Amino acid sequence: MTEPSSPALPRHVAIIMDGNGRWAKGRGLPRLAGHEAGARAVKLITTHARKLGLKALTLYAFSQQNWGRPAPEVEGLMKLLGHYITAERAEILDNDIRFSTIGDLSKLPRNLQDAIAELKQASAGNRGMDFCIALSYGGREELLRAAQAMAAACVAGDLTPDAIDEAEVNKHLYTSHLPPLDLLIRTSGELRISNFMLWQCAYAELVFTPVCWPDFAEGDLDDAIARFCGRERRFGLTPDQISK
Ligand code: IPE
Ligand code: IPE
Ligand code: MG
Repeated sequence: MTEPSSPALPRHVAIIMDGNGRWAKGRGLPRLAGHEAGARAVKLITTHARKLGLKALTLYAFSQQNWGRPAPEVEGLMKLLGHYITAERAEILDNDIRFSTIGDLSKLPRNLQDAIAELKQASAGNRGMDFCIALSYGGREELLRAAQAMAAACVAGDLTPDAIDEAEVNKHLYTSHLPPLDLLIRTSGELRISNFMLWQCAYAELVFTPVCWPDFAEGDLDDAIARFCGRERRFGLTPDQISK
């Protein structure tokens, strides 16, 4: 007798890493201490995702709207990102991880842009897991950019409006190199999407946890994946259709 097959793991998991500020405040620490603790959680969760065999992990690190935060916090976050890229370079390359970003990098400090470009290039041939950081990212901004690119292609005569379908839109999104989003997790108890992967969320399963990001550990990712595995994704069909 064959065993019932276990529900498939999500291929692509994305996390809105929220609650660094509240984590720090609760400990009487400055917000940046929360972001530093958050960077340690990034390392832990990336390693765990690789062990679990996820195909892609996308982490929301900095939104377009986060540029409006006080300058010292923005500068601190950019420094942390720079440290992270340098410190994790070997780990990423040794584990066959392909590093990428989604978002408008042109606003980042030059040295950070260079470090990111270098790591992308060095890891481009890796296939063990896609590790993607959403940086200076906004879902609406991503859709506007895609619309502009498609309009420009129409004007240039390389595309016609009739030919714009889902596949064409996907091609123009930052995420075109990643598998479809299966599971979106948000930490810190907030129940919103905050301009993250608006198109890609269409049929993603959502998991919200009260845990603040710096406290999010391996077991919390396991729990979120277990919740995902316990769900039936129907994509608009009936349960009978899905079971066939
Ligand atoms: C998430 O934590 C990290 C970023 C948005 C950069 P927050 O900094 O938003 O933490 P809270 O939500 O204020 O607690
Ligand atoms: C979303 O968190 C962005 C990131 C986690 C990078 P925010 O803290 O910026 O979202 P809001 O302001 O609470 O919606
Ligand atoms: Mg927040």
